[in-house]
Amino acid sequence: MAATSLHICLLLFHVLLATAGKSSATAVCSSTDRGALLEFRSSLSDPYIGVFSSWTGDDCCNNWFGVACDPETGRVSDLNLRGESEDPILTRAGRSGLMTGRISPAICSLDHLSTLIIADWKQITGSIPSCITSLSALRILDLVGNRLSGSLPHDIGKLSHLTVLNIADNQISGSIPNSLTQITGLMHLNLANNQISGALPYNFLNLNMLSRALLGRNQISGEIPASIGFMNRLSDLDLAENRLSGSIPASLGSMSVLSSLYLDSNHLSGGIPAMLLGSKGLGILNLSRNVLEGKIPDAFTSRSYFTSLDLSFNKLQGEVPKTLLTAEYIGHIDLSHNHLCGRIPAGSPFDHVDAASFANNDCLCSWPLKSCQ
Ligand SMILES: *[C@@H]1O[C@H](CO)[C@@H](O)[C@H](O)[C@H]1NC(C)=O
Repeated sequence: MAATSLHICLLLFHVLLATAGKSSATAVCSSTDRGALLEFRSSLSDPYIGVFSSWTGDDCCNNWFGVACDPETGRVSDLNLRGESEDPILTRAGRSGLMTGRISPAICSLDHLSTLIIADWKQITGSIPSCITSLSALRILDLVGNRLSGSLPHDIGKLSHLTVLNIADNQISGSIPNSLTQITGLMHLNLANNQISGALPYNFLNLNMLSRALLGRNQISGEIPASIGFMNRLSDLDLAENRLSGSIPASLGSMSVLSSLYLDSNHLSGGIPAMLLGSKGLGILNLSRNVLEGKIPDAFTSRSYFTSLDLSFNKLQGEVPKTLLTAEYIGHIDLSHNHLCGRIPAGSPFDHVDAASFANNDCLCSWPLKSCQ
């Protein structure tokens, strides 16, 4: 049964591929699109690989590296230039890509673009052209791994069809525009490793299709809005290495599909919400290097399943909770550099941990540390 439906799927897929191939071969490049592409190309320099060497002749819809057209309209729909990929052009060159120059506003004339990927060229500088928000058909905007600066366009919310926004690993500054929360179909948001400051948009919750929100390694300040806890498709939330303060909203403990939560290296204070530790599905929790205090809630359950649990470098007090022994699985655990005290509970989850996991506390004892007096 499963095998049959798989075969049908494969068959359909081949039919789709065949028809797509046929009609794109008949698409002919619009001259505005061709002009825009050539202007875009002229503001970039690619000294090593020659990705643009195929951009010759009139028909940008055929055999122009990284360019694809909509077979119906003949307009450029995809521009996909990745400096790190399995693409033969890069493997032949035997090196990853490097480009200098800027992203020309000419790109904004490609007004049928649905995918714009200019990724991992390392040295493309300048700002994101503000006119990019006029590309109303954009679904994927991926500019990861360049050296773009300036701020995100304030009216980025006009890109109402975006599902993927990835600007990670650049030098973007300024705050997250409030208009971003108008992109209600957004599924992947990655702004990690920039210099973004200011608070999280208060109505972040509007992004209710979001499954990954990666905002780590920026300078985001203010508190974590409690409403994030009601984003019930969010599976990965990374706010690590920012300047967040206030307490961890208890609502984060009741998120239905949250599987990884990185809040490490912030200024978060207060206690650890108990629900976070007993929650089913949360496999990675890093709260290291904050100023969390109080006891570690004795709230692990048989549904707790942590491949990694890092509570190190806080101000946690009291004992190592006994319910940890009831957890279904605890892989890596780090409770070091706190003010914990008392006997470490003995049991199978701790058989494989080493002393470093409990080091630098006030008065912990027993395996894997030295025995209690
Ligand atoms: C947790 O975060 C800290 C600080 O940002 C980092 O040093 C540590 O490696 C992380 N823990 C794990 C298990 O990845």
